[in-house]
Amino acid sequence: MIATDEKNDIWTPDSWNTKQIWQMPEYDSPEELKARFDELKNYPPLVTSWEIEKLRKKIADAANGNGFVMQGGDCAESFDTCNSDNIVKLLKVLLQMSFILIHEMNTPVTRIGRIAGQYAKPRSSDYEKVGDDLIPSYRGDLFNSFEPTLDARRADPARLVEAYQKSAMTLNFIRSLTDGGGFANMHHPEYWELDFMKKNQYYAEYKQMVESIHHAIRFVETISPNKVHTLKNVDFYASHEALNLYYDSAQTRRVPHQSGYYNLSTHMPWIGNRTRQLDGAHVEYMRGIRNPIGIKVGPPYEVDEILKLIELLNPHQEEGRITLITRFGMNKVTEHLPNLIRAVNRAGFHVLWSCDPMHGNTYATETGVKTRAFNDILGDIKQTFEVHRSENTILGGVHLELTGGNVTECVGGANGLNEAGLGENYLSYCDPRLNYEQALEMAFLIAREWKISRSKDII
Ligand code: PEP
Ligand code: CO
Repeated sequence: MIATDEKNDIWTPDSWNTKQIWQMPEYDSPEELKARFDELKNYPPLVTSWEIEKLRKKIADAANGNGFVMQGGDCAESFDTCNSDNIVKLLKVLLQMSFILIHEMNTPVTRIGRIAGQYAKPRSSDYEKVGDDLIPSYRGDLFNSFEPTLDARRADPARLVEAYQKSAMTLNFIRSLTDGGGFANMHHPEYWELDFMKKNQYYAEYKQMVESIHHAIRFVETISPNKVHTLKNVDFYASHEALNLYYDSAQTRRVPHQSGYYNLSTHMPWIGNRTRQLDGAHVEYMRGIRNPIGIKVGPPYEVDEILKLIELLNPHQEEGRITLITRFGMNKVTEHLPNLIRAVNRAGFHVLWSCDPMHGNTYATETGVKTRAFNDILGDIKQTFEVHRSENTILGGVHLELTGGNVTECVGGANGLNEAGLGENYLSYCDPRLNYEQALEMAFLIAREWKISRSKDII
C-alpha cells in the first residue's frame, strides 16, 4: 500500500494504513489481499460524483430546515439475501415511509438506504465462544462468514470483490426500479397494507392520511401528465459504514472536472461509534474524501473530542458535509444531547442533526434474544425532537434499521409483537430491525412528532 508522507501530513486514499486500525481483522495473506484490492481498484465505480454532490446539497437543505433525511435499511446486508424480493421490499417500505413523511410534514424527503455495501460490522468482542472453542466474531460478509467455524470466520480478501459485485447488482436493480419504471406505482392503494393499524389508537388519522396521499397522487396524474414523470422517478441514495477501509479506499478516486477524491462505492459513507478515534485509521480515511459523511455519536464520548472530529473532517465548514447521527438511547437523550448541541453551536459548526433511535435501545430478553422495543425507539425520537426544539435547533433526519419483510425482531407496535413471538421469523445476523408494519407505523409517528415540535414553535 502507498504510505502517507508523514512529515507533510499528506492525505492519500491509502494514508489510513499508517494509523492505528480499529475493528478490522488481519488478513492471513498479504499477497492475496493485494491481488483483490488491485482488482477492486480497476473496477468501474458504483456511483458518480454528481450524484454525491446532489446529495450533499439535499443534506445542507435539511440542515437549514428545508427538508428531512430518512436513512434506513438492514443492520447488515448479507450476500445470500442479495435477491429481488429483499430489494423490492426494502425499497417499497422506504418509499411508502417517505410518502407518509412528505405528506404529513409538507417538506422534501431524501431517501438514503443502508444498502449496496452495508456488509461490514463493528463488534463489541473479537471472539465468540462456540462450545469449548473461541472463534473470531462474525464481522459481516465483507470480512468473514456467519457460519460458526474457525475456517469460516477467517477474514477472506475474496469477499472484497464479492461485496462489490453484490453491491453493483443491488444498485443496478434499484436504479432500474426507480428510474421511470412502474415501481413508483407503489404509491397506489393496492400496494399499501393497512389493516394492522386498526389496533392503533391513531388508525382513523392514519387511514385518512393514506387516502389523502392517494387523492393527491391521482390529482397530479390527472391534471399534469408531465408531473407523472416526476412521480415515477424516485431519487434514492446508498450509504454504508466505511468500516473495511480496503473496500472503501479501492473505490476512492479523482474524477474529471471536480477537485479532490470521491469514495465512489457509495453516496454517503458513515463512521461508526467505535471507529471515530481522532488519531485512528477511519478518521484519517474520511478526512480526505469529498462525500457527505455521517458520524455516529453515542456513549462513551467527550464533547471536546466530537468538536475536534468535526473540525478535522470539515475544516472549511462546508454545508452538507457532516451529519451527526446521535444514538444515546431512550431516557439518556436529555442527559447527553443538550451539551453537545450547545457546544456545536458555540463553535459555529454547520451540521445536519439526525437521530439513530436503534443502537442505544438494544437489549437481550431473558432467553438471550437481542431485541428493541418499539416504544423505546419512538421515545428516543420524541425526546430528541423535544431537546432540539428547546435548544432551537432542527432535527432534520432519522437513521433506522428496518426491512420490508415480515420479520419478528423488535417487540411492540400496533400488532403487539411480544417477546414470545420473536422466534417466529427472526432473520437478522446482527441487530433487530423494524418490520414492514412497524416501519410504516414509525414513519407515521415520526411525522406526528415533527408536527408537534413545529406547532409548539408557533404557540
Ligand atoms: C450500525 O449502525 O450498525 C452501528 C454499528 O452503529 P454504531 O456505530 O452507532 O454502534
Ligand atoms: Co446495527
